[in-house]
Amino acid sequence: MATTDPSLSAGRRTAEIKRHGQEAFDAMRKAGRLVAEGLDMILPHVRPGVTTARLDRLMFDFAMDHGAFPATLNYRGYRHSICASINHVVCHGQPDDKPMREGDIINIDYTVIVDGWHGDSSRMYAVGQLNRKAERLCEITHECLMRGIAAVRPGGNMGDIGHAIQSYAEAERCSVVRDFCGHGLGQLFHDAPNILHYGARGEGPRMEPGMLFTIEPMINLGKPHVKVLSDGWTAVTRDRSLSAQFEHTVGVTDTGVEIFTLSPAGLDYPIGKP
Ligand code: MF3
Ligand code: CO
Ligand code: CO
Repeated sequence: MATTDPSLSAGRRTAEIKRHGQEAFDAMRKAGRLVAEGLDMILPHVRPGVTTARLDRLMFDFAMDHGAFPATLNYRGYRHSICASINHVVCHGQPDDKPMREGDIINIDYTVIVDGWHGDSSRMYAVGQLNRKAERLCEITHECLMRGIAAVRPGGNMGDIGHAIQSYAEAERCSVVRDFCGHGLGQLFHDAPNILHYGARGEGPRMEPGMLFTIEPMINLGKPHVKVLSDGWTAVTRDRSLSAQFEHTVGVTDTGVEIFTLSPAGLDYPIGKP
């Protein structure tokens, strides 16, 4: 996800929110579908004893085998094909050689570049059996994402998305991470606008047909505050409470919203489906 710190949002990002045409939508369908197929492919590999480095390798090979490239690899010094964020890790967890353990929840965030266009999606996965607390957080977070997406329509405001997410998360006594947000994307990985996962209805830029962006709420069981570890990437909850995240890439259409990263196998919420 993009950081909300504007000093870190340089690069080739532009201030203007681009509006794309039919050809871009076709390209985004292709990129989005490949990301979703990768996230489907990895499901049976998420089990106790497997390392996140192994998942990373499988996702790298998957991209290569399909004429795509993992967008995170060598992106601003990041060295992996996925982010793998376990338990109290909020986002940007780096794959390593530690085996996953029974009861862990893991977010796998995968972005591929296909013919120059970016598809970006993440899901929560269960490592073996989960306790009810972890399961509940994943359910709430997925519902947050889907409510955020349901708020997308031409003529609406970006703040409608944040409002839908925040009001549901907080009614469920969870908190919304403020330090990271969704982002415009297309031929750039992170572009304008920032999509905040909190806010008020009617605030923020107007949504118009042709806009492409991600929605990717990070929801904590405890307080919203995060800190980044000394590796410069791994963001964790300050209170070490559990954190979850789901992400889709969407486009604003003439009548509503199109989700580019839906699972062809129906595995968008892969928990409880081994
Ligand atoms: N895929 C993440 C997102 O949703 C971005 C990860 S950037 C990285 O925007 F450098 F950490 F990989
Ligand atoms: Co993203
Ligand atoms: Co992502």
